[in-house]
Amino acid sequence: MTPSDTAGTAGPAFLQRVTRPMDARAAARLHSVRDARRAARRRVPAVVFDYVDGGADDEVTMRRNAAAFADVTFRPRMGIGPVDPHLATTVLGTRVALPILLAPCGLVRLLHPDGPAGVARAAAARGTLSVLSTVAGSPVEEVTAAARVPMWFQLYAAGGLAEADGLCDRAIDAGIEVLVVTVDTPALGNRTRDVRNGVAPPLRLDARNAAPLGMQVLQRPLWAAQLAATGIRLSTRGAGPAGHGSGMLQAVASPFTWDDVAHLRGRWPGPLVVKGILSGRDARRAVEVGADAVVVSNHGGRQLDGGPATFAVLPEVVDAAGRDAEVLVDGGIRRGSHVVAALALGARAVMVGRPYLYGLAAAGEAGVLRVLEVLETEMRRTMMLLGCRSIDHLDPSWFTSDGEGVLPG
Ligand SMILES: Cc1cc2nc3c(=O)[nH]c(=O)nc-3n(C[C@H](O)[C@H](O)[C@H](O)COP(=O)(O)O)c2cc1C
Repeated sequence: MTPSDTAGTAGPAFLQRVTRPMDARAAARLHSVRDARRAARRRVPAVVFDYVDGGADDEVTMRRNAAAFADVTFRPRMGIGPVDPHLATTVLGTRVALPILLAPCGLVRLLHPDGPAGVARAAAARGTLSVLSTVAGSPVEEVTAAARVPMWFQLYAAGGLAEADGLCDRAIDAGIEVLVVTVDTPALGNRTRDVRNGVAPPLRLDARNAAPLGMQVLQRPLWAAQLAATGIRLSTRGAGPAGHGSGMLQAVASPFTWDDVAHLRGRWPGPLVVKGILSGRDARRAVEVGADAVVVSNHGGRQLDGGPATFAVLPEVVDAAGRDAEVLVDGGIRRGSHVVAALALGARAVMVGRPYLYGLAAAGEAGVLRVLEVLETEMRRTMMLLGCRSIDHLDPSWFTSDGEGVLPG
């Protein structure tokens, strides 16, 4: 299955007239990320759902991410009175109304024709930012032109530094200011569900898997009609080698070295973020080569299985980065309270991946917006229940019983 490199708009007007109200109604029914996941499962073929939902090997790390947040114990403070929590912050100098960014994700156009432009618009509508993946399925120029909102760009370069330089130049020309270099993909993780579904890597329909996938697609006619109308092809061959967004999953292994990151730092005029950091040592390496921020990430448990939960290593990375780089974290964040916990351990902001992908699959751009609304509302309520007025006041004392008096201000 291959998104075309010349991704179009959200489809013909007549189809949009039918689907927009449907999406709005579907979005209104989402009251949690879990709801969005359930709705996504009903809306897209199982093979597509599994591509989003799955992790590597036995999915141990993916489960660890979630379990670490589920284990958090807050110690609320009573008698604070009414609280109207302050959630705004800056990330690399950009003001965001909400410390939740949308992580770079591949093949998002397979989920809904609103695709990466819809994701970017939803993030902007909520006062935050999205990160466009190199393999999102649409060229950076098209997405920026269609979305007309600021976004960041995430870099893979299977073809080495020459390809990386070319992609950077195009991103700069498209008006991107922040580059995210993903360093945890020296090889592609073993996505067991995709292998079992016969689509990894590369994602494709062939004689061996066409029949079962064909049945799945027939069971999701609206998804299939939207996909067909917006120019994504179900291909019987692997993706071609040329062009941005092509090469797809079999070719996204992107073995950047620290020297490569230093080279990119020298070329990229704006802030540079290194994504995929899991130790204090690597956080220091990133700082040494000039990163302005790092993302503590294990790719949502889709790369090395058996690695740590991101929440567990966050303090080590925050400590190592010190004042030299901002620290973001992703992996397993499904509730607003998880965002609060990550901020209390020193993250500047978080990224979410699957939560917004579920929203997109369930209800397009409206679904992404709804997932952000839900997470914001949950965050706000958690802060009120904690008795915490601002995310600037969050620190580890909110996990201890004697935290009273530690707050700044
Ligand atoms: C379907 C899917 C595709 C992804 N594609 C990319 C990608 O192209 N580049 C990248 O740096 N990370 C990619 N990631 C990882 C996300 O950026 C992010 O690290 C991860 O989803 C966070 O975990 P969460 O899904 O539990 O929120 C992908 C994740 C998913 C679920």
